[in-house]
Amino acid sequence: MKKRILTGITTTGTPHIGNYIGAIRPAIELSLNNEESFFFLADYHSIIKNQNSKLIQDSVRDVALAWLSCGLDPNKTYFYKQSDVPEILELTWILNCVTAKGLMNRAHAYKAATSINETDLDKGITMGLFSYPVLMSADILMFDSTHVPVGSDQIQHLEMTRDIAARFNHLYKSLFILPEPIINTQDKVVPGLDGRKMSKSYDNVIPLLGSEKKLKKSIMKIVTNSLEPGVAKDHTNCTVFELYQYFANANDIDEFKKAYEDGISWGEAKEKLFNIINSELLPIRAKYEELINDKDYLNDVLSEGAKKARILAIEKIKEVKEVIGLTKIS
Ligand code: TRP
Repeated sequence: MKKRILTGITTTGTPHIGNYIGAIRPAIELSLNNEESFFFLADYHSIIKNQNSKLIQDSVRDVALAWLSCGLDPNKTYFYKQSDVPEILELTWILNCVTAKGLMNRAHAYKAATSINETDLDKGITMGLFSYPVLMSADILMFDSTHVPVGSDQIQHLEMTRDIAARFNHLYKSLFILPEPIINTQDKVVPGLDGRKMSKSYDNVIPLLGSEKKLKKSIMKIVTNSLEPGVAKDHTNCTVFELYQYFANANDIDEFKKAYEDGISWGEAKEKLFNIINSELLPIRAKYEELINDKDYLNDVLSEGAKKARILAIEKIKEVKEVIGLTKIS
């Protein structure tokens, strides 16, 4: 059977270089293989923690444009917004009815949220947060996905999806495929400007879609030690070197190592890092400029994507409703 790869993209904030290295680039590479792939914007997931409608809207736009600018081909993949496929929510309810509450009690996001509460464990916890893994299961099971690329933090959710699917199959009929995770082996932590994991919450990100000037400014801010030019430098544990490796081939990396031994100055090392990142981002930036100025483009792409996805979703939900008895009265 043909592999069917599906992954949800969280729509929070504006994508940075860390997202590009860790998620966008590997996923797009995967989509170039012969498999069928589904990429969707998990906007219903994004409203769990964010009630600012403007931020939600901006983020969906930025994230979608980032993926398209980085080379995702909407004609060769299924690319849609979760909230444009209402059948996913129908399936979510149905799955809710076969999901043990105890299973959800064990979800790590829920456990982390309750663990910081003292007297009232459920303070500030919505049903959305609690049943997050059920919505994610519906995303996956709806399209008979066989493989789901995930970061290590999502493995538990995938196990829950398999549990829920197996429960449904056992109670009614084997309608759902139990998906396999594809765990990103490069699930390494991409360092930010201060050496900690690159993350918006640490305010240490290098932007993906900013101007060349902004990119340079941000790279020049990377924290290094204060060794003078001419003094040999250690390439291990060095943010500049680590970032460089994500963009360079083996040859470039060897040369850069040698330059460290020969005492390259930090200014020069950063210049090299800027050049290599910038040359990879040039076509992405150009595409982004083009897309953002074409007001209808994104809406058209997303509405086409939803149309394509709904053909499958409508068919699937019909089958599901039939086996559970929600059908024409005979
Ligand atoms: N929960 C995932 C994350 O935080 C995003 C997501 C939503 C997802 N639905 C999905 C990932 C379905 C894979 C499959 O990254």
